Order: sequence, then C-alpha cells, then structure tokens
Amino acid sequence: MDFVNILSEKEGNMAVITINRPNKLNALNRETITELHRAFDELDKDKEVQVIIVTGSGPKAFVAGADISEFADFSIKEGSILAARGQELLFDFVEQLTTPVIAAINGFALGGGLELAMACHFRVASDNARMGLPEVTLGLIPGYGGTQRLPQLVGKGRALEMIMTGEMIGVEKAHLYGLVNHIVAQEELLSYCKQIGEKIAKNSPKAIATAINAVNAGFSRSGYRSEIEGFGASFGTADFKEGTSAFLEKRKPNFKGE
Ligand code: COA
Repeated sequence: MDFVNILSEKEGNMAVITINRPNKLNALNRETITELHRAFDELDKDKEVQVIIVTGSGPKAFVAGADISEFADFSIKEGSILAARGQELLFDFVEQLTTPVIAAINGFALGGGLELAMACHFRVASDNARMGLPEVTLGLIPGYGGTQRLPQLVGKGRALEMIMTGEMIGVEKAHLYGLVNHIVAQEELLSYCKQIGEKIAKNSPKAIATAINAVNAGFSRSGYRSEIEGFGASFGTADFKEGTSAFLEKRKPNFKGE
C-alpha cells in the first residue's frame, strides 16, 4: 500500500498502523485521515488480520490533534463538513470495524488524537502519555466524537471537567478514569499490545465481530449530529478566530465570549 503520512505493516495475524508525521506531532490533516480510512478498510477486509494496533511515530506523540493550520480559515459550513466527513471516514468507521482495534498511546493524545484513541475498541498507554480535549482553548468544541465517547468512557462529570478546562491528564488519572486499560513502559508498548492481540486472536473472529456490534448497539447515536452542528457553529465565532490565530502565532488567546 502506498501511503505518505502513515505506515501500515502486517505481522502474521496482526497489523500495526503508525501515523507518521512526527514533526507535526502526528496531527491529523485531511490526507492522513483519508489514508487511515484506506488502511483500516484494507486490513479489515483481509481475513488473515485478526487484530489492528494503531500508534504514533516518534517518542513524543500519538496524535496531537486535528491539524489546526488546515482549518484556521474555515467557514461554519466547512467546519461542519470537516467534522461530518472525519467522523464518517475515520472515527465512526474505526469504532464499527469488526476487526478489533487497539490504540497504543505513546505520548500526547490530544483533541482528534484522543478522539481517535477513543474510537478504537480499547486503549493501552505508555507511561509518558498525556491526554486531553483542548478544543475550547481554540474557541472550538470537540468535533470527532469526543463529546460522546469521553462521557461513555469516563462518566459525564469527569468528561465535562476535561472538556471545560481543556487540561491534559496523565496516565495515572487516565487509568483511574478507565480511559486507558493498561499503563506500560514506552519501549514495551507495542509488544504489550501484541500480547493482548494474541489472546484475542485465539478466539472466534465471528463471535468477536458480533460482540463488537452488540456493544456498539447499546450506545445512542443522536449526540453526534448535535456535536457536528456545534463544532460547525464554532467556526462563525470571534473566539474561534482568536483561539486558532493565537495557537498559530504561539501566544495566549484573549477570548471575549463572542
Ligand atoms: N495541528 C497542527 N500543528 C500542530 C498540532 C496540531 N494539532 N500540534 C502540534 N503541531 C505542530 C506545532 O505547530 C509545531 O510545528 P512547527 O515546528 O512547524 O512550529 C510542531 O507540531 C511541534 O509542536 P510544538 O508545539 O512545538 O511542541 P511542544 O512540545 O512545545 O508542545 C503540544 C506540544 C502538544 C502541547 C502542543 O503542540 C499543542 O498544544 N498542540 C495542539 C494541541 C491541540 O490543541 N489539539 C487540538 C486540535 S483541535
């Protein structure tokens, strides 16, 4: 497979997808999202592959979010399309795959990065990982399912505190919250995920697929539309222009609440 922003490698009955833009902390631009869709789709259709692990390149980041430089000048309509397209191609797509997907969080998992990890079937983190949904610091809301999946995983109160403060949490708290299932040393992260993968691969792929569908069916889909509308509406605010300009100019934002 010919990819520019990711690596997709098969090893026996497992596959590892690595998001490979380390100089941008593996931020998800449009092309990366399209490539991830293609890689997940091809691996899911491959009968040999029983477990997919997704991780980030380099020692610093899983994914530091959606690529802010790509959407700083978007309109309300473009913002809504960005969220809807991303959810369809990647976040909902991964959650609904019937091949198990494990997120190996090897550093920062912020914004769209944490949203991608949360769309995976479960998460393992390295001891240096830091997680958060910092969108409100940019005058935005999470747009890739974060307002839905974070409360599902950690509970409403903890999710709202994380979303409203925009602060990162470390692995100990993420583990306590149930956001990650295991914490391991960074150099052991992939081998640990593969050990879990081996246990999964011993079981019936058909039964596992059915279980994934049954678990997903227990969660309401109605909130995602509301998130897409709210994310799009944020693009029409002065706070969004201030928040994204401040990030790109490497200064603190001065929000007016407008
Ligand atoms: N979108 C676009 N570029 C990003 C990015 C993102 N989400 N996150 C990091 N980058 C880029 C930086 O702009 C920088 O590029 P440059 O070297 O060309 O200037 C490079 O990645 C390295 O990041 P830098 O900020 O210098 O690293 P740091 O160690 O000082 O800080 C973070 C790390 C994660 C705290 C910081 O990069 C950050 O806050 N990123 C944005 C997180 C975010 O708000 N995500 C949600 C988006 S909706």
